[in-house]
Amino acid sequence: MGVSKKSITRRDFFSVLGWLGLVATFGGSIFGAFRYFLPNVLYEKPSVFKIGRPSDYPIGISEKWKREQQLWVIKNEKGIYAMISICRHLGCTPNWFEDRKLIVCPCHGSIYDINGNVLGGPAPRTLWRAALSLDPIDGQIVVDFNRRQDIEPKSTEGGLFVDESLREVEPFFLKV
Ligand code: FES
Repeated sequence: MGVSKKSITRRDFFSVLGWLGLVATFGGSIFGAFRYFLPNVLYEKPSVFKIGRPSDYPIGISEKWKREQQLWVIKNEKGIYAMISICRHLGCTPNWFEDRKLIVCPCHGSIYDINGNVLGGPAPRTLWRAALSLDPIDGQIVVDFNRRQDIEPKSTEGGLFVDESLREVEPFFLKV
């Protein structure tokens, strides 16, 4: 009697195992089919965005948008520009040092001034500036991150320089 009970239990066990295998197989197929119909969406940050009004920024360099939008907003006596915090060597994120008034890339040591000129290191071009406009409704600055100013720099003993008067033109410079 003990032997019969044991064989039934074993049969039940294998039966359940079989069902589980079937469920797993069909479940996998159904999930695969369902996944096939879902679109593969990449959520990228928008390339056009607002960063507040010109009056929100004091004279100098603002790092408010550096982490979120890879952007320094720089205001001088004449206006505002937005410089992209992507190193022109291999794309690392450089850092602004207020005490030295320099932008330094931690990867291979490129050094830029506050205008984006290259003072040292392997960077082959000056930093990009993004196109700006003013929203006529709310007066906020609108940044077009993918529309960039990239003027051919002059090579000098001190580094790679672009004349500021060439840079301070619309849409890369907002007069205030
Ligand atoms: S990536 Fe900046 S110096 Fe190389």
